Amino acid sequence: MTITTMLNFLFPPPPSLFVTAMSVISFVSLANAGFGEVRGKHLNYSKFWNANSNNNKNATGKKDMKLSSKTGMLLLYTPAFLAGAASFWIFPHQSFRSTILQSSVTFHFFKRLVEVLFVHKYSGSMALDSAIPITLSYFLSAATMIYTQQLTLDLPEPQINLLYPGIVLFVVGVIGNFYHHYLLSKLRGKGEKEYKIPKGGLFGFVICPHYLFEIIEFYGFSFISQTLYALSFTIGTTFYLLGRSYATRRWYLSKFEDFPKNVKAIIPFLF
Ligand SMILES: NC(=O)c1ccc[n+]([C@@H]2O[C@H](COP(=O)([O-])OP(=O)(O)OC[C@H]3O[C@@H](n4cnc5c(N)ncnc54)[C@H](OP(=O)(O)O)[C@@H]3O)[C@@H](O)[C@H]2O)c1
Repeated sequence: MTITTMLNFLFPPPPSLFVTAMSVISFVSLANAGFGEVRGKHLNYSKFWNANSNNNKNATGKKDMKLSSKTGMLLLYTPAFLAGAASFWIFPHQSFRSTILQSSVTFHFFKRLVEVLFVHKYSGSMALDSAIPITLSYFLSAATMIYTQQLTLDLPEPQINLLYPGIVLFVVGVIGNFYHHYLLSKLRGKGEKEYKIPKGGLFGFVICPHYLFEIIEFYGFSFISQTLYALSFTIGTTFYLLGRSYATRRWYLSKFEDFPKNVKAIIPFLF
């Protein structure tokens, strides 16, 4: 894509070393984590909470510290939610676009906290070694996305305005993601911990429809924001969730003899 074509859709990158570095770091670290999932090097939560562990010892030979999944997930999302909420006080009413971005980012992490507290039924733990980098990644990406938007306020608007399609993508992503989380939660009765083959919604086509809708939601952020940072973070997240969904499908195939082979990882009929 030439620079001229990109500038039809994106704000010119602001002259900030921090934002430029974060654009590269977010993309590279997320994409690398996605390839790690494919290679069997998992972030240790959910089905993979005790994968890669050598008698639960980490690379330094010390015992892995574990949190309950619920505590770990609350740790993951709280700083990013607080960053979004604080941004209304730090950058009040700068532009319609920036207020929509602040609202959607804050709402995303608020929704995740509500789901952790009231929807998901967890069975395992989360390794502290995994919780810390994920927490940092969510916090830094939420704060950087909102901060980068502030740096565009005096820059010329992109020729093609994607704000409204972005709001639509965000809402579709939120609803689809929540609905599939709800279906997953219905698989377990109170206190039950076993895994079952999910059914309903798009589960007949892909094993991670909730990831698919999260990707749609994140393209919503990118369209609303129209900054290079939001786009690089979204593309990095896409690679991560592609990798994690591939590993998840492989996990189901290894656990359930009757897992339907036509159910793909994340993109119906394709992947
Ligand atoms: N933006 C990012 O980089 C990023 C990265 C990862 C995830 N996420 C998002 O966070 C959300 C949750 O992700 P996740 O990886 O935690 O999802 P997940 O592994 O599918 O787990 C979600 C919930 O469903 C339960 N569950 C999953 N499969 C089940 C089964 N077969 N039978 C019974 N219960 C089952 C899990 O229980 P257990 O905990 O017991 O497994 C957990 O409570 C997703 O929407 C995803 O898109 C975002």
